[in-house]
Amino acid sequence: MRVGVLTGGGDCPGLNAVIRAIVRKGVQEYGYAFTGFRDGWRGPLEDDTVRLDIPAVRGILPRGGTILGSSRTNPLTARDGVRRVEDTLARHGVDALITIGGEDTLGAAARLCGEYGIPCVGVPKTIDNDLSATDYTFGFDTAVGIATEAIDRLHTTAESHMRVLVVEVMGRHAGWIALHSGLAGGANVILIPEQRFDVDQVCSWVTSRFRASYAPIVVVAEGAVPKDGDMVLKDRTLDSFGHVRLSGVGEWLAAEIEKRTGKEARTTVLGHVQRGGTPSAFDRWLATRFGLHAIDAVRDGDFGAMVALRGTDIVRVPMSEATARLKTVDPALYAEVGVFFG
Ligand code: F6P
Repeated sequence: MRVGVLTGGGDCPGLNAVIRAIVRKGVQEYGYAFTGFRDGWRGPLEDDTVRLDIPAVRGILPRGGTILGSSRTNPLTARDGVRRVEDTLARHGVDALITIGGEDTLGAAARLCGEYGIPCVGVPKTIDNDLSATDYTFGFDTAVGIATEAIDRLHTTAESHMRVLVVEVMGRHAGWIALHSGLAGGANVILIPEQRFDVDQVCSWVTSRFRASYAPIVVVAEGAVPKDGDMVLKDRTLDSFGHVRLSGVGEWLAAEIEKRTGKEARTTVLGHVQRGGTPSAFDRWLATRFGLHAIDAVRDGDFGAMVALRGTDIVRVPMSEATARLKTVDPALYAEVGVFFG
């Protein structure tokens, strides 16, 4: 049996831990051989492969990024995409493909498997934690840790200058990173994409915080949108690769806060720092378990399945279930943390 492996979409701490677990168990327990595909779906589309064996995965557990490279290439929108993928897999004698990715990568895998019979098993990945069907994705814990540490540091400089510090964190469609890091870091306001925010309300929380002699920290997810005006929506542009670029809600909000409260405000955009570097222990643990269960799914011929965390168990769910809709923050959960605002 030869198994192909690819990592697609935005990179994420823990990807290498998954790859290592798949290869270690696959070689040692089942005697499988592996072919790595470079840069997500671009690998099978363009027949770009990389050696994947025990020496290739040695020492990669604590390393961020992915040894296979990643891209947002979609085989279903590429010319002759399905045929090219099929040809590459046949040329290398690949009997099964493990696709490690988020909504787009797994969405493509679900269709290639369901509609064209390409034998795929999915492993969910995103720092945003917004994939349905799994309680957590690896990468999220690392991102929350990095954002929390940044908020801790920003408290002291905010206090020294009695300024407002706006921290923009990742989260295009879901506010999980904002919510978890904001709560863990003791932020005074947390703004998420799921709920439009009222700038005057934010300013009133900021002012009341100053009245209590504290400098406020405002955590805003990059996808959060204000109620009074669609400036942020207007500024969502497509870059030359066709990817959505968000507008910089953090900068915009800090300027509005200064204008409306007369208090000095600064913005810190954490950006890709949240995705880089070594995975947390939890993410290594989760990613490793996902890898071990993914190779078992291949052994069982359970194609179309994705591994997922439910409580403390790793289970298998249909890939299509994970990609059908995003997992967003429940309004009740958001309301619960609102007690700390202001
Ligand atoms: O989906 C993960 C994510 O990190 C989002 O939080 C963020 O909006 C996006 O990827 C950034 O993508 P890119 O690295 O392509 O700019």
